[in-house]
Amino acid sequence: MEIKVVQDAKNIEADILVVNQFEGEKTSNELANTYAVEQDNFKGKFGETYLLPTYGKEIYKKVLVLGMGKKEEFNPNKLREAVAKAVKKAMQMEAKKVSFFFDGIEFDYSEQFTMGAYIADYAFDKYKSEKKDNKVQEIYVQANADNVKKAEKIAAAMTFARNLANEPAQYATPSELASIACDLGLETKIYNREECEKMGMGAFLAVAKGSSQEPKFIHMKYQVDNPKKRIAIIGKGITFDSGGLDIKPPSSMLTMKDDMSAAACVLGVMSIIREFHPQVEVHGIIAACENMPGCSAYKPGDILTAKNGKTIEVDNTDAEGRLTLADALCYACELGVDEVIDLATLTGACMVALGTNAAGIMGNDETLIKNLIDTAERSGERFWQLPLWDEYFDSLKSDIADMKNTGSRWGGASTAGVFLQKFVKDVKWAHIDIAGTAFLDKPQKEFIKGATGAGVRTLLTYILEQ
Ligand code: BES
Ligand code: MN
Ligand code: ZN
Repeated sequence: MEIKVVQDAKNIEADILVVNQFEGEKTSNELANTYAVEQDNFKGKFGETYLLPTYGKEIYKKVLVLGMGKKEEFNPNKLREAVAKAVKKAMQMEAKKVSFFFDGIEFDYSEQFTMGAYIADYAFDKYKSEKKDNKVQEIYVQANADNVKKAEKIAAAMTFARNLANEPAQYATPSELASIACDLGLETKIYNREECEKMGMGAFLAVAKGSSQEPKFIHMKYQVDNPKKRIAIIGKGITFDSGGLDIKPPSSMLTMKDDMSAAACVLGVMSIIREFHPQVEVHGIIAACENMPGCSAYKPGDILTAKNGKTIEVDNTDAEGRLTLADALCYACELGVDEVIDLATLTGACMVALGTNAAGIMGNDETLIKNLIDTAERSGERFWQLPLWDEYFDSLKSDIADMKNTGSRWGGASTAGVFLQKFVKDVKWAHIDIAGTAFLDKPQKEFIKGATGAGVRTLLTYILEQ
């Protein structure tokens, strides 16, 4: 798909001309007004569409009226969703050239227009022997060309992340993630098992023990002279989460190839960062391994020593993400960065609390958290703050070690958060739980089922705004 910025989008020889209609109002198109609005009483409710042919009387073959909902409720996020809807409709009709003419929209819609189009124009069909040929080839729109370009790059990073998270665990192994990281053209260091052992990463390595896949600790660096800020982004990289010896039931295990969605997000961000040349130093960190119940697997009751010397009694081998993140957080804190942001498909509890439209965010710095929530909102994602009160640590107390890796079922997202906090030292830190938003089991808004590239838009926007 290619987006072409034009001067007059309503005079294009297209398969479809898309025009907007605010609820109860007219459109910019006479045919649409006569047949859809007046004759057929089409209202323009949000997300509704009306298609009419032009019978060779216009240079476009059809007009698609796109319902935008009430004008006073309209915003860039709704625009993105509506555009995605139109692109999907065009794909169904196998239209190749689609022109969008928007009238009466009072903000610069260039970025969210582009995001909506690219998010909708996604399929994971590499393993289909017969691929559908329904992609839109050309989109015409009146927009700000620079903002379209910027959004195209962010969208490409999202697609990169979605492809990686959709990839089956048999292929997207820790070694594969490491090799992908090495191919991004950044300064990258991969630590193998022995090197991680030397660094004292006893929590991360314990999780890797039950698998025949070698663990890989990945550190990518984007560097500039005199950076305004130094940021580390960490992504949970469990390439498959069987639960380990505390094995998951089949229905819960079914989508667990997605447990490296946060790693995919970090790789997506790092894959495009150089093209923006932001004046910030960014470290991308992934502790990649598989959580399997092999004969060397770590066991409930084992006591692990993390990189910072803290000891952890294994209460449940399925709470593996926080163990791998513990060592990754220690590592990141030693880099002397200003901020550490970790993302993880960490808890089913977060998904229960917030659903699939919002990620949970917590941390030790209110300004950083507020900033990320605001950036998410403007980027088209939703973050919602969860508390990190000391009381959440009560259930993690162990009789024989510094802590256990799981505690009470109640408040599970915050309990995981306070666990992680024990491995954060002298740095501003935010933790984003994307368990609900990273991977969809049915289509939602502009997304098809499967990986969403959660976190990519927000992190990139955040980095670019420093
Ligand atoms: N990867 C899962 C969390 C998850 C659940 C992600 C559903 C996406 C969708 C994580 O490793 C896990 O198993 N968490 C446990 C923690 C529990 C044992 C304290 C959970 O949420 O059940
Ligand atoms: Mn688990
Ligand atoms: Zn997991």
